[in-house]
Amino acid sequence: MRAKHLSIFFIFVFGALGGLLFGFDTGIISGASSLIENDFSLNIEQTGFITSSVLIGSSIGALSIGTLSDRFGRKRLLLVASILFLLGSGLSMTAVGFASMVTARIILGFAVGSASALTPAYLAELADAPHRGSLGTMFQLMITAGILLAYVSNLGFLHHNLLGIRDWRWMLGSALIPAAILFIGSLILPESPRYLVEKGNVDEARDVLHELRKNTNEDPDKELTDIQKVANQPRGGWKELVTFARPAVIVAIGLMLLQQLVGINSVIYFLPQVFIKGFGFAEGNAIWISVGIGVVNFLCTLLAYQIMDKFNRRTILLFGSIVMAVSIGTLSVLNFTLTVQAAAVPTMILIAIYIFGFAVSWGPICWLMLGEIFPLNVRGVGNSIGSAANWIGNFIVSQFFLVLLSMFHNNVGGPFAVFTFFAVLSIFFVIYMVPETRGKTLEDIEMEMRQKAALKKSAN
Ligand code: BGC
Repeated sequence: MRAKHLSIFFIFVFGALGGLLFGFDTGIISGASSLIENDFSLNIEQTGFITSSVLIGSSIGALSIGTLSDRFGRKRLLLVASILFLLGSGLSMTAVGFASMVTARIILGFAVGSASALTPAYLAELADAPHRGSLGTMFQLMITAGILLAYVSNLGFLHHNLLGIRDWRWMLGSALIPAAILFIGSLILPESPRYLVEKGNVDEARDVLHELRKNTNEDPDKELTDIQKVANQPRGGWKELVTFARPAVIVAIGLMLLQQLVGINSVIYFLPQVFIKGFGFAEGNAIWISVGIGVVNFLCTLLAYQIMDKFNRRTILLFGSIVMAVSIGTLSVLNFTLTVQAAAVPTMILIAIYIFGFAVSWGPICWLMLGEIFPLNVRGVGNSIGSAANWIGNFIVSQFFLVLLSMFHNNVGGPFAVFTFFAVLSIFFVIYMVPETRGKTLEDIEMEMRQKAALKKSAN
């Protein structure tokens, strides 16, 4: 179906809906895991594996989808991802034991990983250059909305076995609703005009571009001509990724690993446990701590959406790195120097500042830039690599955070000192490695990269 009759807002909201499921499916398990553990009489390792199986599936899903998306298109694979979301959500809701739950979570992971590798490129390819920052931030906005919804769903269903169905089954099953909406959305969304040109469907690409740009100051015909110029390049593969597109690969992997290694998911997945173990908070408060984090994270991402096209991406990244390094660095020092009681309230405030720092910068910009920095002929596979790096980083932090915490006798100062190191490292990474992409078309970004590579080649 053409983009006709669909409002631009609809296209970007539905296009980014994979983010909502990404946030929901990674966030929901924090509340559901202890309930599943009791119901299936699992040991702690099995419960841990249920949590991390989604991350394993995501890494594999992200890695495998890229070449397929360069071949079959972003839209068709979003549809496949939505079917996997439906299947994984249905199976996890009806799981009967450890093995079936792990299978369901791996399928869900596959869907999440695929969506995370497809959506940034899809949104970047649909957006006009002056608004690409905000429109790309829609993905992160959806992720944070998904996390918040998961926490709210945990809160709403906890101890309510409606219709005789266990609470955790409702929690996991509620993902069926956004999955069904994504399924319908991906049937009616337009295909990416850049993918269409690459495949030689210039007329359809022109229609989509005219429809997408009708309320903007951009000239769709000029954009089409520019796209045609880069689409003339031969189909890319691994060779391009290690030659002229290598800077993009390095930036993508660096941004994505650092996004995880600054430790955001220790807060998103484990903070309630930290407060219970480290500061002696009551178990019943855990869910409220989560909801608080979810709200701060979502509101700060809304702010990011507002500012993304007003400042350079590099400036915002640097700002975020500094805010994160200072807040968790201070947090770490305080927790090594103050008593547990005295450290509790400052820790909470510093964590809120840290979430702010992440949510306005590294949260949205890493996904946004992933969609922007790769040349058209390797965009799908490049996005796969970057996205897989993110999931692998996420897996590492999730596996080691609780271990690190117990190594430091439940003192959060320990793991957060490690995260501070990576936040400081991220400052240097931005200064020396990250290019500026604001205000340029995807084709400008690609031409710059090709010219630099050609210059380097001729200098050698
Ligand atoms: C990260 C997720 C994280 C989320 C928090 C995303 O950008 O990739 O791992 O849970 O932000 O808002």
